[in-house]
Amino acid sequence: PLGDQMNPDASALARESTEVDISAIEPGQSVTVKWRGKPVFIRNRTDAEVEAAKAVPMDELKDPQEDVERAVEGRENLLIMVGICTHLGCVPLGDAGDFGGWFCPCHGSHYDTAGRIRKGPAPTNLPVPPAVFVDDATIKLG
Ligand code: FES
Repeated sequence: PLGDQMNPDASALARESTEVDISAIEPGQSVTVKWRGKPVFIRNRTDAEVEAAKAVPMDELKDPQEDVERAVEGRENLLIMVGICTHLGCVPLGDAGDFGGWFCPCHGSHYDTAGRIRKGPAPTNLPVPPAVFVDDATIKLG
C-alpha cells in the first residue's frame, strides 16, 4: 500500500542506510550511488570549485545556504547530495550548466558547485542527505 511506502518504519529506514567507499574518488570526480531508491551524487570537489562556491554572496541565491552548510563537515571538498532536481524530479547532469555545477536539462535549472539553485525553475537547492564517516574511507548515508 502507498501509505506504507511513504512512511517506512524505523527498522525499514535503518536497513536502507548505504555505506560508500570514497577513497578512490579523485578531485574533480563524482560517483553516483543509490540510496533509498534515489540517486545520490558524491563529488570530491576541486579546490577551485570550493572557492567558487564560497565566494558567492548570499543575496545572489534563491535558496541561501553557505557552502559550509552543504559540504561534509570537516571535509569541505566533499559534497553529497540527492541527485533529483527540485523542480519536477529529473536527474541533473554533472560538470554542466552556467555555474560549473549541475544542469537539469528537463526545463533548464542550473546548480552551482555547491548544488545550489542559481537559475531556472527549480525552487530549492539539491537536498543534502544525512551522512557520517564510518572510517576515513567510508561514508554511511542515512
Ligand atoms: Fe529539473 Fe524541471 S525537472 S528543471
